[in-house]
Amino acid sequence: MIKINFIEEAKNASNIFVFVNSKKELSNEAKLLDSKFDGIISKALGSFDNFSGKFAQAKQLTTVSKNNDIQIINLIGTGQEDELDEFKIQELGGAIISCLRASRQKSAEVENYKISKFSSEEFAANLAFGISLGSYSFNKYHTAKKPEELDVFEDINIVTSNSKSAQELFESSLLPIAESVFEARDLITEPGNVLYPESYADIIDEKLSALGVEVDILGEGEMRHLGMNALLGVGQGSIRESKLVVMRYYGRDDDSAPVAFVGKGVTFDTGGISLKPSRSMGDMKYDMSGSAAVFGTIMTLAKRGAKVNAVGVVGLVENMPGGNAQRPGDVVKSMSGQTIEILDTDAEGRLVLADALWYTQEKFKPKFMVDLATLTGAVSIALGNVYAGLFSNNDNLSDELTKAGKASGEELWRLPLHSNFDKMIKSDIADVANLGMPQGHASSSTAAQFLQKFVNNVPWAHLDIAGVAFDSKGKSISPKGAVGFGIRLLNKLVKDNYES
Ligand code: BES
Ligand code: MG
Ligand code: ZN
Repeated sequence: MIKINFIEEAKNASNIFVFVNSKKELSNEAKLLDSKFDGIISKALGSFDNFSGKFAQAKQLTTVSKNNDIQIINLIGTGQEDELDEFKIQELGGAIISCLRASRQKSAEVENYKISKFSSEEFAANLAFGISLGSYSFNKYHTAKKPEELDVFEDINIVTSNSKSAQELFESSLLPIAESVFEARDLITEPGNVLYPESYADIIDEKLSALGVEVDILGEGEMRHLGMNALLGVGQGSIRESKLVVMRYYGRDDDSAPVAFVGKGVTFDTGGISLKPSRSMGDMKYDMSGSAAVFGTIMTLAKRGAKVNAVGVVGLVENMPGGNAQRPGDVVKSMSGQTIEILDTDAEGRLVLADALWYTQEKFKPKFMVDLATLTGAVSIALGNVYAGLFSNNDNLSDELTKAGKASGEELWRLPLHSNFDKMIKSDIADVANLGMPQGHASSSTAAQFLQKFVNNVPWAHLDIAGVAFDSKGKSISPKGAVGFGIRLLNKLVKDNYES
């Protein structure tokens, strides 16, 4: 994790960031710099019509200091100051780290900036959060690159009028999230030969037990005993043993009903006998992103000592073809007692979740369940990587999630559940089919409608994150690759609604 220091006096670093609003007004700090470096900022603002101060725009100015050293001054546009919110301030932090990445700089100083809407410490702490999130890189398997070639950052000094409160705010409520997002991104990025159900379960156990979370790992024997044949069928073609991991964080003194998060953890999805095409099949190592969000959320809650009782349940399986693999046409009996005809072995996520959801409501009688899954390619046809799909049997939970999504920048768009979709997942010989007909029609909704049969009327929401879990281009606060989507969102949901 990048080191962030909050300081009260500028140190005249050789690489400096200053903010400029869309009126191109100079802050006091910018004015000081401007006069120190012969009016470079005001001249630049006058001469470049390509820098307007619009939100997150960046302009790098280079000059020579009095001691004949290179001096870099980066201007970052804030746009209209009254439009800034916490997430936008985080994105400004992201813009700073993007500049550092592009110019291969490893450290910088960010000058103080005062706006009326936020205190100096709120501004500084949210900036630090965005810088942290954007600084992620995964270098474990590079053996040939030199240290200076890696995107590894050293330290950032953020100047603020209240360094102590900025640091407290950052360390108590934002750094725990960033650290958990990094852990989740690491797990999501790990390839399928390294991260498989057993190795994954062990990592969850090790990392969360250290934080006082109780972790139970169920193996295939125990799951068979519980009747989880839907989940087990998905993993039966793999030489790796399937696992169900249960994480319990009880942050309240009482034994009130927990909130519950459930995740799809397909460590690699070949499609099984309904084999996927080989083109970009490697992306299917990301098919455990929902479970990583659950793990990261529980980690965040534990790290910041949230006053909530929460459980996380993740179904970890590898979906492989093979002599023992599940066949299209097979019928399995789920833990709920409902039988499922497997028309397509690549619609496996819902089979894993069917048993994980049923188990969670039966065992914990939770206040609500939210599941996260890279469930359908179709959700990215509908919503791109702009929104995750939200399906819910409960308007209140749905509204709370939508609000938390807006505030955290992990946005959701509600899509329909409807009894008419039941007709599309009818099976000739079992209670339900795992594939909607006609194929390709409303497949995100038919998948969600399938899941609803396994929640037993508990308030529930399903987040289809297939479009947002990984990003082939990257954004300022989530570089190319694993996003770690859902942790900021669910932390916000809990913080705003379930901690009092
Ligand atoms: N893991 C995939 C969904 C997916 C696709 C995630 C693309 C990320 C990117 C899932 O298991 C799957 O294969 N779903 C099928 C369902 C279909 C067979 C009903 C799909 O979306 O095509
Ligand atoms: Mg899958
Ligand atoms: Zn699949």
